[in-house]
Amino acid sequence: MKKTEIKKNYLLKLKELSKHNKFYYDDSKPAISDIEYDNLKLDILKLEEKYNFLKNKSSPLNVVGFKPSKTFEKYEHKVQMLSLSNAFNKDDLINFEKKIYNYLNSKDYFNYSVEPKIDGISASLTYIDKKLIYGVSRGDGKFGEIITENLKTIDDIPKFINKKSFPNEIEIRGEVFIKKKDFLKIKDNFANPRNAASGSLRQKDPAETRKIPLNFIAYTYGYLQKNYFKYQSDFLKELKKWGFKTNKENRILENIDELIKYHHQFEKIRFELDYDVDGLVYKINNLNLQSRLGFTSNSPRWAIAHKFSADSANTKVLNIEIQIGRTGALTPVAKVEPVNIGGVVVSNATLHNEDEIIRKDIRIGDIVEIERAGDVIPHVVLVDKNKRLKNSKRFVFPKICPSCGSQTIKEYNQSTKKYDAVRRCTNDSYGCEKIAIEKIKHFISKEALNIDGLGKKVVEKFWDLNFIKKPQDIFKLNYKNIVNLDGWGKLSVNNLKNSIENSKKVTLQKFIYSLGIRHIGTENAKLISDNIKNISNFIDLIKSENFEKFLNIDGIGETQIKSLRNFFSNKLNKEIVIELNAILKIETQRIKETGILKDKTFMFTGKLNGISRAEAKSLIEKNSGITLSSVSKSLNYLVVGEKPTRRKVEQAKSLGINIISLRELKKLLN
Ligand code: IVH
Repeated sequence: MKKTEIKKNYLLKLKELSKHNKFYYDDSKPAISDIEYDNLKLDILKLEEKYNFLKNKSSPLNVVGFKPSKTFEKYEHKVQMLSLSNAFNKDDLINFEKKIYNYLNSKDYFNYSVEPKIDGISASLTYIDKKLIYGVSRGDGKFGEIITENLKTIDDIPKFINKKSFPNEIEIRGEVFIKKKDFLKIKDNFANPRNAASGSLRQKDPAETRKIPLNFIAYTYGYLQKNYFKYQSDFLKELKKWGFKTNKENRILENIDELIKYHHQFEKIRFELDYDVDGLVYKINNLNLQSRLGFTSNSPRWAIAHKFSADSANTKVLNIEIQIGRTGALTPVAKVEPVNIGGVVVSNATLHNEDEIIRKDIRIGDIVEIERAGDVIPHVVLVDKNKRLKNSKRFVFPKICPSCGSQTIKEYNQSTKKYDAVRRCTNDSYGCEKIAIEKIKHFISKEALNIDGLGKKVVEKFWDLNFIKKPQDIFKLNYKNIVNLDGWGKLSVNNLKNSIENSKKVTLQKFIYSLGIRHIGTENAKLISDNIKNISNFIDLIKSENFEKFLNIDGIGETQIKSLRNFFSNKLNKEIVIELNAILKIETQRIKETGILKDKTFMFTGKLNGISRAEAKSLIEKNSGITLSSVSKSLNYLVVGEKPTRRKVEQAKSLGINIISLRELKKLLN
């Protein structure tokens, strides 16, 4: 073979390897089996050995961080690792504080612990009897992966803490990251420092992890046996005493104006820091208030991430494509000439909806400014109309669904008296191909069945091959057909099989969420599953279509009821639930049997003093009680505050329901 041909063949293999590194590290979706990967790598190394002239900086020999040939053991977090909600401006912060005051129903004084939000990978460290026992990744927030040995290679992480004040059992959380200057040395192999840290942490061999210098900064605790501290800032001080690194830029600030001022200063100096920061985290400093405020299903009520403003760049719109979402929404997306924005190559930008295109008059061929902030999808800020070509034409938004040809509509919103900005396909659920595929992607997503062996790309491929047309088809896959497909091997098929098998055990909440009913997100799915308790009740309900029953649930309104009714008026959706129930093991909600208010129902009327409705409701639920939102025979207690609704009190009286004050409720709770 000629030298040039050998080189060409070698470079092709390198390219292939780097493609699979990307699938693995960036997308967490390997496309080939571990054996296939190892063979590819071996081929390259052999070629290098044989032909001296084949020197390349992308050689696997120079690449730090190979693909691990092992999946890690799963670990159920004792306290979920949730994410933070985002703020982008002062209004978002005002809104955040307003919600806090509403929840506490008082003007309690509080200040903030302000901490830089390092853009790394969060890790949880469990210490028992002063020794580091478990090091775990965040995973999906509920289940992480045990990566103790890899985390132990990080010098910043103490393995043993010989300090009197150190609790017997504590779980410490923080961020693993790579410094900018260290990233420069390996930047050809990873998209950004965050990916490098993530890839390094998932090595099979800790010696590989050690090759990339990782750092750890601690910022919170997860599980802790009892409350040792009063303030977040005290806890941070304590962390330092115990030998953890904490961030030098942490501050205690008093109010929103001070937060904004610090954010402004920090935004200017952030590029001088030796690590990537994508915002500041503001936490209510008082830990007692934190615990009163608690969590929504995704994030704490007591903290928020204030993101830094976006980077932007100019580029050309090559095309405008219409994507169809799970709920039928037609979303226009600009395909743009690839452009580097703050270290990430962007080739797609969302145009949001039809109205947005009209308002900004965005056309194919236009030069536009695109903005990108953190993990938010890039969007078009403005069009440079001076650079517009003379023959350019207005973009005409399709009036029929580009996927199935059905009518599209803009819904009329009764409460705002306006038409929706979003246009939707009217085809029922699985009748429209694109909607169906998106529904299946939703079904397997992290917060639903979490089938991690089955990525979005695989769903599309299996759809084209007629392997999967409905969610239940996932459980009827013929693995013999998959093993022979391009990019698949015995090992990857086995992984897929295992992850599908594991997904069969699912909570009722996740199951309801996985159906992809419009307006039924994680929070509402939880409300419904808490109320309905088990899958047979749920099935009875969808058969009887008596969704009005849910109006009783605090938090569910007409919009959700309408959406449920609409969803289950489709026979196919009912059948899917029934069929899935026969395949899956849908777990009944774990009810805390021990709660002092077990099986007791409560309702509130009037203003409660010193506590908000939401907090009172959460207190009742913490003690296994149930809150209702209307008076009926099934109500046990009506809790009456200031200026109660007379009608409700009268109704309760006539039904012989216990009428109690807030004080009496507190007594019930001891
Ligand atoms: S506190 C309940 N503090 O941000 C959430 N998180 O979006 C408690 N992060 O997964 C997290 N710096 O990886 C917290 N000082 C800080 C942080 C921080 C970075 C990351 C962390 C978390 C994500 C939340």
